[in-house]
Amino acid sequence: MTAPTTGPLACKRKGPLRGAISVPGDKSISHRALLFGALATGETRVAGLLDAEDVRSTRRAVERLGATVRVEGGEVVVVPAERLREPDDVIDCGNSGTSLRLLTGVLSGIPGLSVLTGDASLRRRPVRRVVEPLRRMGANLSARDGDRLPPVVVRGGPLRGCRHVLEVASAQVKSACLLAGLFAEGETSVSEPERSRDHTERMLRGMGVPVRTEGLTVSVGPARPRGGRVDVPGDISSAAFFLCGAAATPGSEVTVRGLGVNPTRTGLLDVLAAMGADLALANEREVAGEPRADLTVRAAELRATEIRGAIIPRLIDELPVVMVMATQARGRTVIRDAKELRVKESDRLAAMGETLVAAGARIELFEDGCAIDGPTPLRGVTVRTRLDHRIAMSMAIAQLFTGGDEVVLDDVACVATSFPSFFDLLDELASEDRR
Ligand code: S3P
Repeated sequence: MTAPTTGPLACKRKGPLRGAISVPGDKSISHRALLFGALATGETRVAGLLDAEDVRSTRRAVERLGATVRVEGGEVVVVPAERLREPDDVIDCGNSGTSLRLLTGVLSGIPGLSVLTGDASLRRRPVRRVVEPLRRMGANLSARDGDRLPPVVVRGGPLRGCRHVLEVASAQVKSACLLAGLFAEGETSVSEPERSRDHTERMLRGMGVPVRTEGLTVSVGPARPRGGRVDVPGDISSAAFFLCGAAATPGSEVTVRGLGVNPTRTGLLDVLAAMGADLALANEREVAGEPRADLTVRAAELRATEIRGAIIPRLIDELPVVMVMATQARGRTVIRDAKELRVKESDRLAAMGETLVAAGARIELFEDGCAIDGPTPLRGVTVRTRLDHRIAMSMAIAQLFTGGDEVVLDDVACVATSFPSFFDLLDELASEDRR
């Protein structure tokens, strides 16, 4: 039976998880394929584009700016406009922070006025981090609540290159600055405190834009991508739910084929290995500038680990389900330097902390992380999903550790932002009769 896609959902599954699956295309790469394709001089053909709400937000935005997006023979073709134009209405980015932040960079370089907004979750997420650097490049931006929150108003125009030194490692901010840099006079460089995901750099290079990377600094000059081919690997942030569920459920063995394993995204694999999970990578290759592989995880007795420092940006989106897995590991798992979790689709530290404690977990919360003592059997709980897909999916995995109790998700509509087939794949892996 197919799970409902909106409203409440009671989860009641039993492990182990077993089987071989593919997961939908990487969300970060999918946004970039549409956006960079729209800026290009020629067509871009995209295989494996994620079909989910967040990416639809980017698609609608680039169409409003004058690009055409069509489906052709299982691929998505982006046909750029001669020049992107001022949008004739407010751009609604829905739940998608990546759409909103990357678009502020592009719109800063397009003459005219644009207004970007989103749903109740997105309108609580910080935008000063893009407003300030883009202003230094000469764009005129303002945002609600003293430039803190969306909606954001952008008046684009001539830009000058700038050296940006970021306080937080953020691929969204880095990408917004680099995209504005493509429209600017002179060089634009961005230095980060730690390395964040580098999909922008890889894809721009693949589209013929010279991008220089030196240590933690990336620079571009004025350029226009030429378009080309993008082949989107499976999203490791989506696979993470099954990988963590399988690692902690005795008797599990899950293979994910064609998974993106870009080193700026594989912090979870380091954590799984440190916790004692049995991991095997096969068929490693690079396709259209992004590494991918088939990954198998087998359950093992998990032990606690410490997760802090440079690894954090490499697994930031996976931390909610890592917190779930840590409840099943022996010892005290400590997560620090992860304050950014508080400004995602929800305050994920508070949301996961409160929800897991209600489910019987032993968790101490800090401003920038938490400590989790395990192993602890969990019990049924009702989850306030707070328009946050990763809270909903993480708690669907937590249900596997309740010994059969139900976990009720109050509204699962948010799952469609990144992973509409999540419950179907989870059923496939958990189902007795497919083994
Ligand atoms: C993303 C970057 C990360 C990540 C988000 C996607 C991207 O956000 O959490 O889900 O595609 O650039 P930050 O840049 O805010 O760290």
